[in-house]
Amino acid sequence: MVDHKGKITYTQLLKEDLLIFRFVPDNGMPDYEAGQFLTLGFHIPGEDFKLVRRAYSIASHPENRNYFEFVVRWVRSPLPGRVTTMLLYASEGDKIIWGDCVGNALTINDRLPDGSKDERRIVCVSGGTGLAPFVSFANHLHDIGDKREIVCLHGASYVDELSYKSLLTKLDTESIDRGRDKWNFTYRASISRPKEWINRSWNGQTGRVEQFLKPGPDGLSPLEKLVEEKITRDNTIFYICGWQGTIDGTMDFMKPKGFVTMPDKREDGSFEVKFESYG
Ligand SMILES: Cc1cc2nc3c(=O)[nH]c(=O)nc-3n(C[C@H](O)[C@H](O)[C@H](O)COP(=O)(O)OP(=O)(O)OC[C@H]3O[C@@H](n4cnc5c(N)ncnc54)[C@H](O)[C@@H]3O)c2cc1C
Ligand SMILES: NC(=O)c1ccc[n+]([C@@H]2O[C@H](COP(=O)([O-])OP(=O)(O)OC[C@H]3O[C@@H](n4cnc5c(N)ncnc54)[C@H](OP(=O)(O)O)[C@@H]3O)[C@@H](O)[C@H]2O)c1
Repeated sequence: MVDHKGKITYTQLLKEDLLIFRFVPDNGMPDYEAGQFLTLGFHIPGEDFKLVRRAYSIASHPENRNYFEFVVRWVRSPLPGRVTTMLLYASEGDKIIWGDCVGNALTINDRLPDGSKDERRIVCVSGGTGLAPFVSFANHLHDIGDKREIVCLHGASYVDELSYKSLLTKLDTESIDRGRDKWNFTYRASISRPKEWINRSWNGQTGRVEQFLKPGPDGLSPLEKLVEEKITRDNTIFYICGWQGTIDGTMDFMKPKGFVTMPDKREDGSFEVKFESYG
């Protein structure tokens, strides 16, 4: 693996264990695709300065040639995580080691197996920091003027963990202002611990993010009500990032509708779900 060097230029603590940060590569920004990840490395003081690397989804988008951005959860139990603790203590100006941008599990599908353009609605389903690749999707698709319908669904335990609410709401509002024929983007969140005090004013969707896909008494899911039509294999592709439970929970609703994942694609190469899980 080739290790590159960079400098941290921005850190923002959203809460005690949730961090947004940016770094600038020493040798210029490489090309990459929305939805990819890279490894970040630190020499760990408590382990003879051994170099430890971990994968992080890139939240910034390829058109942003100024920096890479990430959203990271500090892993604190049963023991503080090696790399996330280093990141939590890192300051603007500190050096960072990073690896090449890789992964195709969550890159945006542009062609169908017959070579025609993939014009299906894009539904992004994420839990917690799993939102990162979809922030990249949103800004990338916006910047290239993509006309597909995009629905970004984010699940978090607490309202202060809706890490990109402001940016995604702005993109949603722009869609209403400019017209959906020009930019078609919808953002909705779900809060999984609605009874907690900090969530007292939340009046949106509740439960884990996959609840957006659960059919109601009328047979329609909240997602179907949002997009005003039945979700089918022909009109929608799903991208999921989060805990394995988020992927399984989503597939529990989509499998009965005949949806298959990219790793399980049909003989003709077709699939309707791409995903990346936390482990
Ligand atoms: C493709 C991909 C993308 C990812 N993107 C993101 C992202 O965008 N944001 C994000 O926050 N994370 C992301 N992750 C997760 C990330 O790669 C790390 O796994 C995570 O940040 C924890 O790393 P760490 O070094 O801090 O923890 P580690 O040191 O690896 O610890 C992992 C776990 O083991 C426990 N542990 C550590 N040492 C011991 C010990 N001696 N005994 C018992 N238990 C121990 C820790 O408490 C913790 O629960 C991604 C993972 C993948 C695979
Ligand atoms: N691409 C990747 O692979 C990737 C990207 C980003 C992060 N990560 C890793 O994921 C870890 C945790 O992420 P996070 O802290 O951002 O998530 P989180 O805040 O703990 O959880 C986010 C949402 O997922 C729900 N959830 C928790 N456990 C679940 C399960 N087993 N099945 C289904 N839903 C579940 C939570 O519901 P409750 O309120 O009910 O708990 C919450 O609504 C991070 O430490 C990071 O290491 C991986």
